[in-house]
Amino acid sequence: MCGIFGIIYLGNKQIGKIALEGIRRLEYRGYDSCGIVVHKNGELYLRKDSGKIQEIQDKLKFDELIGNIALAHTRWATHGAPIKKNSHPHLDCKNEIAVVHNGIIENFISLKKELLSKGHVFQSDTDTEIIPHLIEEYIKEGIDFKNSVIKTLKRCKGAYGIVICYSKEPNSIIVARKESPIIIGLDKGKVSYCASDIPALLPYTRDFYILGDNELAILRPGDVSIVNFKNEPIEITKPLKHIDWSIDAAEKGGYEHFMLKEIFEEPNALRRTLKISENELKMFAKELMDAENIYITAAGTSYYASLAGKYIITKFLGKYIQEIECSELENQLLDSLKNNSVIIAVSQSGETIDLIEAIRWARKAQKNIKILSLTNVVGSSITRYSDLTIITQAGPEIGVAATKTYTTQVLSLGLIGLQIARERNVLPKEEIDSYYDALKSSPDIIEDFLKKTNHSIEKLVDNLEKNANYFFLARGISIATAKEGGLKLKEVACRFIEGYSAANAKHGPIALVREGFPIIFIAPPDESYERLVGNIMEFKARGGHIISVVVESDEIISDLSDTVIRIPQPANKYYNLFSPITFIPALQLLAYHSALAHGLDPDQPLNLAKTVTVH
Ligand code: G6P
Repeated sequence: MCGIFGIIYLGNKQIGKIALEGIRRLEYRGYDSCGIVVHKNGELYLRKDSGKIQEIQDKLKFDELIGNIALAHTRWATHGAPIKKNSHPHLDCKNEIAVVHNGIIENFISLKKELLSKGHVFQSDTDTEIIPHLIEEYIKEGIDFKNSVIKTLKRCKGAYGIVICYSKEPNSIIVARKESPIIIGLDKGKVSYCASDIPALLPYTRDFYILGDNELAILRPGDVSIVNFKNEPIEITKPLKHIDWSIDAAEKGGYEHFMLKEIFEEPNALRRTLKISENELKMFAKELMDAENIYITAAGTSYYASLAGKYIITKFLGKYIQEIECSELENQLLDSLKNNSVIIAVSQSGETIDLIEAIRWARKAQKNIKILSLTNVVGSSITRYSDLTIITQAGPEIGVAATKTYTTQVLSLGLIGLQIARERNVLPKEEIDSYYDALKSSPDIIEDFLKKTNHSIEKLVDNLEKNANYFFLARGISIATAKEGGLKLKEVACRFIEGYSAANAKHGPIALVREGFPIIFIAPPDESYERLVGNIMEFKARGGHIISVVVESDEIISDLSDTVIRIPQPANKYYNLFSPITFIPALQLLAYHSALAHGLDPDQPLNLAKTVTVH
C-alpha cells in the first residue's frame, strides 16, 4: 500500500527523472495521487498532486527536477481524501524536512494536538504530516537529525516504511521501517536507493538489503549504515539478498496491460515453480505429517489458492486442514490453538498485514507452533516469522489482480501434497507418478489453451456484459476456481459476480435466475461431475443460460450448455486434481476482457492496492 522511493547522489543530477521511474514501477501499490521532493543546494523543491502518475507528470514535469536527493511517493489514501494537499511528500513548517510514508501512524491525533499547541501549522489531513513536524521540534531542541528521527519514531505507534531528508544535511537520507517493507540498493561510492518493493530497484541492482522492523538506515551516496533504533543504536551488519528477477518481467513487453502479460506468463512461471527443491518439499511434508492440527490461512486470491491447495494436500495427508481467512485467525483460534499445530501461511507479497499479525499472534499464543509459508517475495516479512518458507517462482507481478502468483501458489501446494503422497506411500508408485505427470503438464495445458482461446473469451464477454448479474458455480475442488473467478471480476471489471457452491446455490442465489440468466459452471470430470449435472438441470429448468468450462473431450455437460469453453487436458482423475491451475486462466481472461468492455484499466482497479499493509 503506497509506493515510496528515495535516492541520493554525490552531486546534482536530473534526479526527478529517476524518481519518476521509481514510482512508476511501484504504481500498483497505490495510484490516487503522487509527488516528488528534490533537494538541491540547501533547498527543497516539492511537486505533487492527485491523479495518476502520468497525468501529474504531464502537468508538473517531475522529470525536469534537478538535485542530489529525491523522495517520491505514489499513494493509496488512508487518512485524508486523495487530493493534492494530502499527497506526499509532506514537509515541516520551515520546508526543511521532507517525508514520504507507507503505513499508518495510529496515535497521530494526540501527536497532532501536541504539535498544534506548540504552534505548528499543518497543511493536510494525513497522519504522516506529524512526522516532519515532530522531527522539526526535536531539531529545534538542538538534537541532531538522526536522533531527532529516532525520538520521533519512538513516539509513533503503528506501521511505517519511511524516507526522510533534511535540507541542512544534504549528504544523507534516513530510511526506517516498522512493518511496512523497505529495501535498499547501492551503487558503491556513487548512489544509494531505497524503495518499498523490488521492481523499483531492478534497473539498478539485484542485490538488496532488506530493512527489518525497528531498523533505521542512513543512506549516503553509495553507502549505508544500519542501526536498530529501539535499542542502543549500534550498527548492524546485514547480508545482501540476491533476487533473481529479470527486469523484462517488470515491463509490459508489448502487451497492452500487465494483467494480460502476466496471464500469458503463467506457463513459464509454473515451469520455474516446478523446480522447487525436493529438500524443501520434504521439510514441509514432514512438518505436516507430524502435526496434529493444521490450518491454512491467507487473504484475497491467496486464500482461494489455499482452498484449492487444502483439497490437494488433504487427499494425500489423510488429515483435515482447516482454512481460515487470516483476518479471522485469532478470533477463531483464540480458545483452541494447540501447541503442536502447523499453520500454512500463503501470501504472494509476504507483506499482508492481517496475515503477518495472525501468524505473530499464533507464535505468541503457542510456543511450539510451526509456521510454514509460501510467498513469491524473497526476504518479505512473512519469511521472518516462518519456520520454513517456499518461494514460488512467479517473478514480479505488477498487475494489481493476482494471476500468475495464484497458479504458482496452487502448484506449490500441489507439489507439497505429492511429496506427502510419496512419503506416506498412500498409493501405488505408478499412481503417484501419474499425478506428478498431470501436475507437470499444467504449463503446457495452459499454453495450449491461451494459444487457442483468447479470442473466444472476448466474444463470450460481449454476450455476458448484456447481463447485470451472473454466477460461477462449481462443486468440490472447483469451488476455489469459481470463487477466484468471481473475485477477479469484482476486482478488475467492477462487476458483482459471485463464485458459489453449485449445491448451495439452491439455498438463495437461484432466486435470481430468470430466462437468459447466465451461469458459468466449472466442470472438470471429477467425482462431483454427476451431481453438477443435476445442478445444471435445476438452473436450466428455470431458464438459465448455461456456459460451461469443461475438458476437451467432455460430452454430457457440453451438450447441456449454450456456450462451452474447453480446456485442452485429458479427462482423468490425475488432471482433475490440478484443474484449479489449468481452468483459472479462462476466468482470468474473462475478467480482463470484461474490464476492457467497461472501459476500465485492469492493471489499476478502483480502490485496490496490490499489497495491503494496513488493517
Ligand atoms: C490484495 C490484492 C490481492 C491479494 C491480496 C492478498 O487484496 O489486491 O490481489 O490477493 O491482497 O495479498 P497477498 O500478497 O497476501 O497474497
